[in-house]
Amino acid sequence: MKRRDWIKINGLGLASCFLPANKAFSYLSNNQVNTPNFSSSEFGKEFLWGAACAAYQVEGAWKLDGKGPSVWDTFTHKKGKIHNNENGNSAADFYHRYKEDIALLKQMNFGVFRFSLSWSRIFPTGTGNINKKGVEFYHKVIDECLINGIEPWITLYHWDLPQSLEDQGGWANRKILNWFQEYVSFCTKEFGSKVKNWMVMNEPAAFVGLGYMLGYHAPGKKGPYKFLKATHHACLAMADGGRIIRENVSEANVGSTFSCSHIAPYRDDSVSSYKDAGAVRRMDALLNRLYIEPSLGLGYPIDGLPALKRIKRYFKPGDEERLKFKFDFIGLQNYFRVVAKNAIIPPFLWAKQISAEKRGVPMNEMKFEVYPEGMYKVIKQFSKYNIDNIIITENGACFKDVVQNGRIHDKERISFFNSYLKNVLKAKKEGAPVTGYFVWSLTDNFEWSEGYEPRFGLIHVDFNTQKRIMKDSGLWFKEFLSEK
Ligand code: NOJ
Repeated sequence: MKRRDWIKINGLGLASCFLPANKAFSYLSNNQVNTPNFSSSEFGKEFLWGAACAAYQVEGAWKLDGKGPSVWDTFTHKKGKIHNNENGNSAADFYHRYKEDIALLKQMNFGVFRFSLSWSRIFPTGTGNINKKGVEFYHKVIDECLINGIEPWITLYHWDLPQSLEDQGGWANRKILNWFQEYVSFCTKEFGSKVKNWMVMNEPAAFVGLGYMLGYHAPGKKGPYKFLKATHHACLAMADGGRIIRENVSEANVGSTFSCSHIAPYRDDSVSSYKDAGAVRRMDALLNRLYIEPSLGLGYPIDGLPALKRIKRYFKPGDEERLKFKFDFIGLQNYFRVVAKNAIIPPFLWAKQISAEKRGVPMNEMKFEVYPEGMYKVIKQFSKYNIDNIIITENGACFKDVVQNGRIHDKERISFFNSYLKNVLKAKKEGAPVTGYFVWSLTDNFEWSEGYEPRFGLIHVDFNTQKRIMKDSGLWFKEFLSEK
C-alpha cells in the first residue's frame, strides 16, 4: 500500500478548492515565482535557517565499517516493498560525501544542519557493543559543521531501528524503553560537548502508523494492537529521551518533531457537514494530537478518537507521569492538507481521506496537495498549546526535475517555498513563537517506499555518479538568505 493510500485511509480533504490539477502554481505570476515580496530579515536576526536530512535516506554505506542492519535494510531488501525494488544501500553516499554536502549547505547561506544518527551504525545490534568507526563518522560530520560555522542539530531516531531489536518485537516490546535509554545516554555523553540541539524523534505518527499499523513502511507490521502498543512505547521513549538529553548535555536545547496537517471537512452542505466534522475530529486526534499531547500532560486524545481508549491496556503504574516532558521546542513538519469524509471503513477511524487528485487541486509528484495556507493554519493550531518555541523542522516538495545544460530550473519548488514561507511569516507576525525553518531536504535522497523517484533536494543528485548540482531553488535560497 502506498503512503498516499494510507493517508487516504486516514482520510482528509477540503471541498472548496477545485482548481485544475496542473495549475499548482497559478497563484503566483512569473515574476513573483522568483522574487518574494518579503525578505529573510523580516523573520528576525535570531531566526534559524537550515536544511535537513536523515541517515537512512542519505548515508548509504549500509554495511560498511561495522554498521549493523536496520529494519530499513531488511525491509528494502525484500521484493515488492519499494518502488522499483530500490534500497538505501548507497543512497546519496553522504557517508563519503558529507564534506561536499556541508560545503553546499554553507554556500546556500544556511546556518544550521539537521541530520540523524543511525542507531545500528553506533550499536550494530542495538545494545551492548559499540562500533567505534560509526562513532568516529558522526564526530567527523559534527566537526565538519563546526569548522564551517554550521550549527549541528541531531535527530536521535529517524525510523531506522536496529534489526536485532525488531527481531525482539521492536517498538511493540516494552523493552524498547531500556534499549532506547542506553542508546540516547551513549550518544548524548559522546557528542553532547559539541552538540547542544537535539531532537529525540522524527514524526512518530509516521513510523508507528506506517510501520506498525499499515505495514507500508519498515518493519511492515499490521494491525491496531501493535499500533497501540508501539504508540505508547514511542511516547514514553520520547519523554525518557528528553530527560536523558537534559541530564547529560549542559545548556541543551531539547525537542522532538511531529508531522502535522490542517484537516478540513469534505462536504459543506447542511446534512453531511455534521458527519464530516466528526471525521475531521477523529483524523485530527490521530494525525495531529496523538503523539504530542501526552508529553504536554494532556494524555491521549481519546475524546477525539474513542478507539484509542484501548491504549490504556498497555499502561504500567507511573506511566501517566512518565509520558510528560516539557520540550524546549517542538518541531512541526507540514507537507499537505487532509480533507476528511465520514466513512464506515476503516472502523477504527470511521473516516477516509479524499485525495488531492480526486479533488483536482494543486499537488506535487507524490500527490501531496500544495496548500500553503495549511502551514499558517497548523502553526496557529499548535500555538494554542502554549508552546514557547516552534521550529519548522521540515517543509519541502518533490517535483519532476529536469537537468538542462547542467542546470535544474525548478520553478515550482521555488514557488512552493515562496508561498509556504509567506505563511510562516504571517503566523509569526501574528505572534506565533516560530523561531526557525528547515528545508526538506538538503540533497535528493531515498524517499522510503517511493524509492529515488521523488526528489525533495535543493541539491540535485545523479544517483549513478553521485554528482551534485545546485538547483535553482538552492540558488534562490542563497540569494534570499544573503540579506539576513
Ligand atoms: C517526513 C520525513 O521525516 C522524511 O523522512 C520524508 O522524506 C519527508 N517527510 C517527505 O516525505
